Amino acid sequence: MPYEYVLVEREDPIAVVTINRPAKLNALNWTVIGEVASAIEELDRDPAIRCVVLTGAGDRAFAAGADIAEMSDKSPMDMLAGSFDNWDRIRRVHIPIIAAVGGFALGGGHELAMHADMIVASEDAKFGQPEILLGIMPGAGGTQRLARTVGKYRTMELCLTGDQFTAQQMFELGLVNRVVPKGQHLEEAKQLARTVAARAPLAVRLIKDAVLTAYEVPLEDGLAYEKRLFALLFSTEDAKEGMGAFVEKRQANFKGR
Ligand code: COA
Repeated sequence: MPYEYVLVEREDPIAVVTINRPAKLNALNWTVIGEVASAIEELDRDPAIRCVVLTGAGDRAFAAGADIAEMSDKSPMDMLAGSFDNWDRIRRVHIPIIAAVGGFALGGGHELAMHADMIVASEDAKFGQPEILLGIMPGAGGTQRLARTVGKYRTMELCLTGDQFTAQQMFELGLVNRVVPKGQHLEEAKQLARTVAARAPLAVRLIKDAVLTAYEVPLEDGLAYEKRLFALLFSTEDAKEGMGAFVEKRQANFKGR
């Protein structure tokens, strides 16, 4: 289905979803975020696609935040009814998502990158939560996901000052997986996606589930959940294939069964 602001390019077994609003630095109006959710959900349902790369069009931004012009005259109830369901749709997909960030990832753009499972950044990327400069605050998980990833003190600094942090700073804080020379973020993210896509698909799915569960439940419950998922994988053909291939000293051929 063609979207107004989102491009989907398939390179099976990976796909690239591009926010395509470069004249507005890929600002996330409600249509954009709904389209991103729909595009990723559609790929999540497609067994031929095993990893998604999410990026922004142009060389200036991944996304420079929620669309301030759209938000400026909204009421509290408008905001509550607005786009939050679409953020949750992105949060709930099973397929791994890798954000490829070049230029600005600010506000909602930063929060969208944090909905991904890994983040690859160009060395010119700038991350931040500048909502404070507008008299508002992060609303799509920024305070929560940042605090869980970079800790209280850096989260406070990012959210209370609105300052932009470099890709290298975010790498050192553990939020960015890889920093690459300017403009190479998409290619590097695609390479990483191909690596994940070559792994056993059911194990990939359950690993994403287990890691995200670590953010939701106490350690005891998370360990019990992991143990059950681990045992479940012993029902799959891929587990037999993977361990059999090791024993037979050959390459495993995973089928997602
Ligand atoms: N919402 C709506 N439009 C946005 C936007 C946003 N979050 N970010 C950028 N744009 C638009 C600008 O209005 C401008 O549109 P125009 O050419 O029609 O006037 C265009 O994108 C280019 O942005 P501009 O501000 O001219 O680029 P710049 O290089 O001078 O500055 C930024 C880049 C990212 C520093 C600046 O655009 C900015 O501060 N954006 C807002 C960031 C933000 O607060 N995000 C959180 C929102 S909750």
